[in-house]
Parts: sequence; structure tokens; C-alpha cells
Amino acid sequence: MSDAELLELHGDEWSQVIERLPQGGFAWRHLGARLEPGVLPAARDLLGATTFSLNEPLALPVFPVAGSGWFGPSAAELLREDTRRIDLELRSFSATVTDDRVELVCSDEREQVSFVTRFSKLATGLAVETEVTNEGDDPVILSSLASAFLPLPPSATHLVSWRGRHAAEFEECVEAMPAHGWQRETREGMTGHGGPPACQVLCSGCGWYSGLALSAQLAWSGDTRIAIERHDEGAWLLTAEAIHVPGEIRLAPGERHRAPQLMVAISRSGRNGIAAQQHAMVRSVVEWPNGTMRPRPVHLNSWEACYFAHDQARMKELASAAADIGVERFVLDDGWFDGREGDCAGLGDWTPDQRKYPAGLAPLAEHVQALGMEFGLWVEPEMINPDSDLFRAHPDWVLGANGRSKPTARNQLVLDMRRPDVRDHLYEKLDGLLSATPISYLKWDHNRAHAPAGGSAQTRGTYDLLARIRAAHPHVEIESCAAGGGRIDAGIARFVHRFWTSDNIDALARIPMQRAFTAFMPPELMGAHVGASPSHATGRSQALDLRAAIASQGHFGIELDPSQLDPAERREIAAWIDFYKNWRRLAHGGETVLGEGPNGILWQAQGDGSEYILWISRAQMSHERRDAPLPLPFAAGRDWRVKLLEQAGRSHVLAARNAKAIDAMKHAARTFSGSWLAAAGLPLPALTAESAAIFHLEAV
Ligand code: DGJ
Repeated sequence: MSDAELLELHGDEWSQVIERLPQGGFAWRHLGARLEPGVLPAARDLLGATTFSLNEPLALPVFPVAGSGWFGPSAAELLREDTRRIDLELRSFSATVTDDRVELVCSDEREQVSFVTRFSKLATGLAVETEVTNEGDDPVILSSLASAFLPLPPSATHLVSWRGRHAAEFEECVEAMPAHGWQRETREGMTGHGGPPACQVLCSGCGWYSGLALSAQLAWSGDTRIAIERHDEGAWLLTAEAIHVPGEIRLAPGERHRAPQLMVAISRSGRNGIAAQQHAMVRSVVEWPNGTMRPRPVHLNSWEACYFAHDQARMKELASAAADIGVERFVLDDGWFDGREGDCAGLGDWTPDQRKYPAGLAPLAEHVQALGMEFGLWVEPEMINPDSDLFRAHPDWVLGANGRSKPTARNQLVLDMRRPDVRDHLYEKLDGLLSATPISYLKWDHNRAHAPAGGSAQTRGTYDLLARIRAAHPHVEIESCAAGGGRIDAGIARFVHRFWTSDNIDALARIPMQRAFTAFMPPELMGAHVGASPSHATGRSQALDLRAAIASQGHFGIELDPSQLDPAERREIAAWIDFYKNWRRLAHGGETVLGEGPNGILWQAQGDGSEYILWISRAQMSHERRDAPLPLPFAAGRDWRVKLLEQAGRSHVLAARNAKAIDAMKHAARTFSGSWLAAAGLPLPALTAESAAIFHLEAV
């Protein structure tokens, strides 16, 4: 039996054990795979001898502060107004433990500050939050506050993170665990095109479906730092925090500040196991109109069909063409408002251009609704062009209005969202649009990094505006877009219902990008469109069915003018819209399982545990004459009826040569045992370069 006081939290797959030390304070004992509760001996009994170290070994603190023999990273740095550093010594402690939560309070009574670290079960994962309170009579300046400080599993071998740029989001980076330190810091004032502020830590032998893995994503859309440091007590330590501009967070007596939540997933089921927990946590924070997600409607977004060439008649025609092929939501993108002939002017002047829309947007919105579709509108509220009436009236409303340089990007500046008058103005404009026109969807864009930066208060200002709009118009769904996928994170997920993944909708570019998206975000939030060929982003041409097959993994849409297609292509795209409508119930809201086969084969299954859609794709040609059957480990344990739904890409050339039994699976499902699929594998149709096959699996 343990003689130590253990504060435990157990998920289905993970456990967190903290010891309340007899001399005061809280020490990490375990954060990793699930273990049986309450049998840990006091940890000091477990420590081996060492030389030339502190006589009294320092247990790994849950909330470490510099000094007092702790040589690792500090969870908080505080200053007085005269810039004197507050030398924290946490000597007063209390804990509250329930089945779902461990809450620790550490206080420095002399300096009169206290910290709360809250570990809570969130869906199937673990959420960590930190809060600081100024309990004294003098102000406290918050220099930094980690959202979490976590020990990583000692068997960790690899670290996975993502980087990116406009139209090239989510490039996966796999590195060995660092000998000294590793850091992923974002400084653009926005999340950035590398995806959420997040990483995955893979332990020895970890793959897609087995092995111990941990992932963490910070729910924040501003500047962030995720750092991993090697500690000489034999552990890697992870800290995650929102970065503050020095001096911006000043706590008056009695005030508190809460750091953004860190969402942590731990699983022995490899990368798919941790992704499933991240999906569950993100799903638990998304607030759907009326409380539940309804089937994700097929979009037509006007951007690549029209760019800035707007006029009411053309948009009505586009909407009619969209309705003809089965589109359910028409989104009017950039170009509808005053002065917006191109990307040089107009941002800030959120009034419909009278020359393009003489009676405002209502006639178009009503036309769209009469066609049975919803009407969505593009806005970029946080931005302003110097060539706009808003800027001429309020040149002081931009970041950098203090006389420092204000470099433009895409010819625009960033509004100072820290200012209540700016937020009030934007609220009035957006509220006016949403009240005057039947708009049920906003595509909320944000097309540049912040220079100069507005600090974390800029991000809080944006959240504040989003929260007001959501409260006033709860039926309106919002899409987070930032020059494509520049603001995809769990912080903004509380206010939005879709992310625009990338302006690159080239199907081959999308395959790895969309897989990476699902490391932290569920596929129903992933905007995925069928674009024109050649692709506007890459100039590459791909078969229409390949473009549609890959887009059908996410929240499906069309990013072209259907009237420019020939009738056969229009029929084909309408058939893919039907395909998506038929299967979105499986593709969305359930499990996502990724895997890889030999010779460049990538696969992913999306479903509810007893029924899946399985996409198998290949970008480059293989040098094998035929593909070996593809093992599907997720299928083990039950029998499956398997049907070949679609073959997309150039493989139709080879389709005639499929074995008869494979072709027969297009017409009638064939039953396989789970052990056969898991061990021997699914027989594959011919998959040449730039092709995909889509199967349906249903448990018998
Ligand atoms: C960037 C977005 O990613 C595009 O989809 C489009 O909305 C443009 N901005 C409009 O300016």
C-alpha cells in the first residue's frame, strides 16, 4: 500500500498521478498510459543515489518556479511595476480532487500571489489550465504563465510537429527527441499555417495504430510557445503557453488571469489513438447552433469561380448553377462591398457595393434561399485597407498607430482589436449585415500576420467580438479562414464551425494536408473543395473524380463555376455531391483511422466503429506490377461486408484489368473476416499514379 498521498485522475487510456508531498508541494509521479489506481509507493523511496546534488532531492514539481533548487523551466514569471522580479517561493498548498478533476492551489503568502492548476477530464482526453491571482495590495505584471508543465514518457523517441505557409499548410516534421531542447514558437499574432500550436510525442515502436503516444494542443489563436527540454533527472519536460507582450498583463489587486487550455491526449493506440482523443476534446468545445451538428451542407464558394468580378446577375447565375448540381449553401466570397475591385481597397467598408448589388445583398440572398440553399457571406472584420473610408475616418484604429512603421501585407493593415470602440464598430457592422439580410453563415477571413503585433489582448479582442456575434446570432455558423489555413486551433474552435484548410485545393497536395489536419481536428470541421483543373494554386491537372474523392473526406464544397463544365462533367460532379450526401453521416462525427501501405499507398477510414468509408490513395506510380493486399488493423475482431464504391483518378484506365472478384465488389459486398483484413489484407484494385479507391465496410 502507498503511504504517499496521491492525487489521481484516470481516463480510459491514461492516468495522471501527482503526489502531495509531506513537506508541502505537489510532485509529478506519472503522466502516461493508464495504470491501476492508488498503489504507488512514496516516490522518494524510488529514487536511486546520485552524487554532488541537493541533499534533499527535489521531486519534479507540478508547478515549478525558478530558484529553490529547481533548474528546469519556470511555469510563471511575475514582476512588480518597478520591473523587480517577484522571487516566488510557493509554500502554501491545497488540493481538491473529484472523479473528473484535480485542482491544485500553490501560493506565495509573502508575495500574495496564488496559482491554480486544474487538470480535468475533457471528453476522453485531459485538459490543463492555469490561473494566477493577485491577492496583494500592489499590482502584479505577468511576464509569462505556462498553461501546463508536463513530464513526457521516458520512452519517447520522436517528436512530430507541422509547419507551413499560405497554400502549403501542414508540412509534417518528424524529429528525434532533443538532447537539450526543442521549441515551436509562433510570432505572427495568429495561429499560422503550420496548424494548431501543438505537437505529438511518439514512444518507442509507436506507429499509426499501436504504441504509446502523447499529443498536446494549446487552445489559443495568438502567439504561442511549445517547448520541450531535456531534464537531467531523466525526463523530457513540456511547457506550453500563450506569449504575452511584456507588460501587457497587469493584475490589479484581486484580479486574476487564466492561461489558455492545453488539450492533452495519451494513448497506447498510437497516433490514431491520440488523434481520437483530440477530436473528442475539440468536438466538446464546438458550439453548434441548436446544440447539435447537423449534416454538413455542400458549399459552393464563389472565390475561385469569380474572384473580385462580382455583379448580382452573375452571382444569381452561379447560385442557380450550384443549386442545379445539388449544392446546399452558397457562400459569397470577397468582392461584394464598397471599393473592392481587387485586393488593394475596401476592407473596412462593410456596405454592399451599389454598382454590383444595387438593392444590397437581400435580392441575391433571397434568390439563393428560393433555390433551397443557405446564404453565406465572406467578411474579414479584423482588417482594413489604407484605401478605405474606415481608414480615412479612423487612421488611429490600426495596430502601429503610435507612429511606428506599419508594413502592409496584401495591401492591408490590422485593426487594433484591443480597443473597445473598434470592436463596437465591427459588432455594429456585422450585426447590421446579419440583421438586414438572411445570412446564416459567415466565412471569417484574416489574411495577414500582425506587424506590429497587438499581443495576446489582440487575440482576446477577436474572441470577444466573435462571442458577441455568436450570442446575438446563435443560428449563424462561422468558418475560420486565414489566407487558407492560418487560424486553425482549438481556441477559435469555441466560436466557429468550420476551418478553411488551405487555398491549395490541388487533390495531391490535399492528401497529406488533410491527414495532418486530422491529427488535432475532426474531419467534419475541415473545409475541402473540388476546384478547377488545372489547380489555381499549383497549375497541376487532376481528374475530376480524384478531386472529388479527396474532398469528400471533409466538409465538402465546390470552388468552381459549374456552368463552365461540360454537361458530362456537371453530371459527374452532381453524382459526387450525391456520394458525399450519402456518406457524410459516416465520414463525420465518428472515428478517423489513418494508415500507410507499401509503395506510397495512404489510407484512411472514417466511420462509427461498425461501419466505415475507407479511402485508399496513391500520388506517384508504383514500380510493382500489382499491389499486395492492404492490411487494415482496425478491422480485427469482427467480420465485414466490403464493397468497392468508387475508383477515382486515372485508374479507370486499368480498371478493366482488375481481378473479377475485385470488380464484383463494385456490385455486391463481399464478406471478409476481421482477422483476414487485419493480417492478410484487403485485395486492392489497380491503383496507378494520382488515383484513389473508396470502399464501404460494414460489420456483419
Ligand atoms: C483567402 C481565402 O483563403 C480565400 O478562400 C478567399 O476567401 C480570399 N482570402 C479572399 O480574399
